[in-house]
Amino acid sequence: MINPLKSIEETSYTLHHPAIPPSINGMTLTQISDIHMGRWVKPHHIKELCTHVNQLEPDLVLLTGDYVGYNKQDIARCADALSSLKPTSFAVLGNHDYWADAELAQAMFEPTPITLLTNEMVVHSHNETEINIIGVDDHVTGHANVAQAFQDHDPSQRFGLTLNHVPSIAPECAAAGGHLILSGHTHNFQFNIPRLTNRLAQSFGVKYYAGPYKIKESILYINRGLGSASWPWRIRAMPELTHITLQHGHHPILEFNQASLFGVGSR
Ligand SMILES: [Fe+2]
Ligand SMILES: [Fe+2]
Repeated sequence: MINPLKSIEETSYTLHHPAIPPSINGMTLTQISDIHMGRWVKPHHIKELCTHVNQLEPDLVLLTGDYVGYNKQDIARCADALSSLKPTSFAVLGNHDYWADAELAQAMFEPTPITLLTNEMVVHSHNETEINIIGVDDHVTGHANVAQAFQDHDPSQRFGLTLNHVPSIAPECAAAGGHLILSGHTHNFQFNIPRLTNRLAQSFGVKYYAGPYKIKESILYINRGLGSASWPWRIRAMPELTHITLQHGHHPILEFNQASLFGVGSR
């Protein structure tokens, strides 16, 4: 059996941004994306991953879509595995969740402690300081409504943390006041050959496909995801777990701290 999660790259960054209030300096976020539970990613892999994340005790866990491949039976299996997450967690759906079963995907998070955001915003308090967490629904299947998701967000008043599966609409999220936008979906094409991957992206008209980008005064971060729906192989585009620490700063910069490897499951 192929286990794509026997080697995961754990990347760590610090986000410096003027919209981050100094009172939440040091707040930690962990992003999990594109699990694609199914043929290669199994519930025991995700339970082990959740144990690892629980031990790190981030302040928030943010899940950016594509929990399954094409099989609706995997929706409940993924929700069950993720329900062991202990930190406060928020999620959005991806295109595969809609393709597998739209209704089940919507209902998937109800019995879990994870809050699903579908074109909506919640106010989250940390150190008695409020930030807005905005969840944009999936763009590929036509469910994204950026205006609705951001309608109650005033970027001059609160830091806007945005979850948005498909990064191609990140400029809209940035224009609406998303200071940090977390995306997935692209998997870095699951292959990263310098120049060739870039040329391929250009030929498909894909502007944003992996890692950090600055869009005006906003930072977009695209996690490469954990699993995959169609094939398990990756070339220099390892599965990724991302950690971001928030820090007030005069200019928006996502500073790279370190990368390390860990794995889940012996099979
Ligand atoms: Fe995906
Ligand atoms: Fe996707």
